[in-house]
Amino acid sequence: MKPAPPDPVPLRPNAPPVPPLDPARAERLDDIIARHAGQEGPLLPILHEVQAEWGMIPEAAQPVIARALGLARAEVHGVVSFYHDFREAPAGRHVLRICRAEACQAMGADALAARVQAALGLDWHATTPDGRLTLEPVFCLGLCACAPAAQMGDRLVGRATPERLVTLAGEAR
Ligand code: FES
Repeated sequence: MKPAPPDPVPLRPNAPPVPPLDPARAERLDDIIARHAGQEGPLLPILHEVQAEWGMIPEAAQPVIARALGLARAEVHGVVSFYHDFREAPAGRHVLRICRAEACQAMGADALAARVQAALGLDWHATTPDGRLTLEPVFCLGLCACAPAAQMGDRLVGRATPERLVTLAGEAR
């Protein structure tokens, strides 16, 4: 396996060093990498499995994955931050998703999202301080005919209004 090229710039120059994975997670990560490393294009399957198992891609896992695949750490980080499904921090107990794809945008999804964000005090991908709720964008829920659409946990919401979403968010404990 070829060694990872040096990173041209540190990912977060002013951030404190990230603590390494605990031994159990490190071992599990090695297993996941080993199972996919021989495949063509192993990075996404590895990231999906890590995310499915831990609900996030820990920052400390990224250089391990990069080294194993002969990639720069920044490449792995770039993929993690590009795809909305990947998270670097655990989500809240409930996730409210608001569709931002075209049909919903045409029906006012941007204004809907802005009002929900303001009411909840949450930006995209942010979680309430009590860990109760995370707000996420999503790109089509298959409810285009009932746009703007949202999803609260498993529940789909068509013709969503800010009031409805804020109420649902408030009911989620
Ligand atoms: S575009 Fe929003 S549900 Fe399809």
